[in-house]
Amino acid sequence: MSGAERRCLVAGNWKMNGLLEDAMAYVAELGENPAPEHVEVAIMPPFTLLHPMSGPLSEKGVRLGAQSVYFEQKGAFTGSISPLMLRDAGCHYVILGHSERRDIIHEDNALIRKKMLAAWQAGLEPILCIGEHLEEREAGKTNDVLREQLAILEGVAENKPLTVAYEPVWAIGTGRTATPEQVVETHAFVHEELARLGCDCRVLYGGSVKPDNAEALLACPGVEGALVGGASLQADSFMRIIEAAARAAG
Ligand code: 13P
Repeated sequence: MSGAERRCLVAGNWKMNGLLEDAMAYVAELGENPAPEHVEVAIMPPFTLLHPMSGPLSEKGVRLGAQSVYFEQKGAFTGSISPLMLRDAGCHYVILGHSERRDIIHEDNALIRKKMLAAWQAGLEPILCIGEHLEEREAGKTNDVLREQLAILEGVAENKPLTVAYEPVWAIGTGRTATPEQVVETHAFVHEELARLGCDCRVLYGGSVKPDNAEALLACPGVEGALVGGASLQADSFMRIIEAAARAAG
């Protein structure tokens, strides 16, 4: 699959937000056909909402994803959710390596790799998040950090379903986005690194994507979608981002 042929993806990562009643109202507000022709749409709600949202979202052509997973399929792992359970709940995607899990829960590249392998085994498509901290960017280490985070793909990712999301940590939840120049430059590096690893996959941008900056970010060469946090929590702002993606794609 080449970059020119594939649809861009707008994915909403709800993080630890969402109760049943509001989630159902949100799905209703999305209307009948929220995904335009050239745009794929997905929502990653918290685990508790996966089952109830699965049917209503799939009727609207919206894919479902989870925000994390454990690396075993079943067993005595209290409090954990397995890739098989996510498939059973109707998930297509699972986010792995989000900076909030790397920083707050101390997930490292080795653990993320195990989760990725287990996700593939169950038929899920991982959205692997990578990104540098501000100090790393300022020290000129961005590419080194990204190279190390992508190295978990070495020897295992060829022909596997995979999406990568570049999310500079300093842009997440801060209202500060990377400039189009930074986005173009960094995405070019990520695509180059992925090609070296034998992966030709989509690369999304994430970090303070909002309705008013989405079109400019999504129009950057090498950007094939957005991973949206805060602005995906309201159906109307998420839909405006989807519309911006359709304009950028068309
Ligand atoms: P914000 O859009 O709230 O900055 O979050 C981005 C993000 O972390 C998506 O995974």
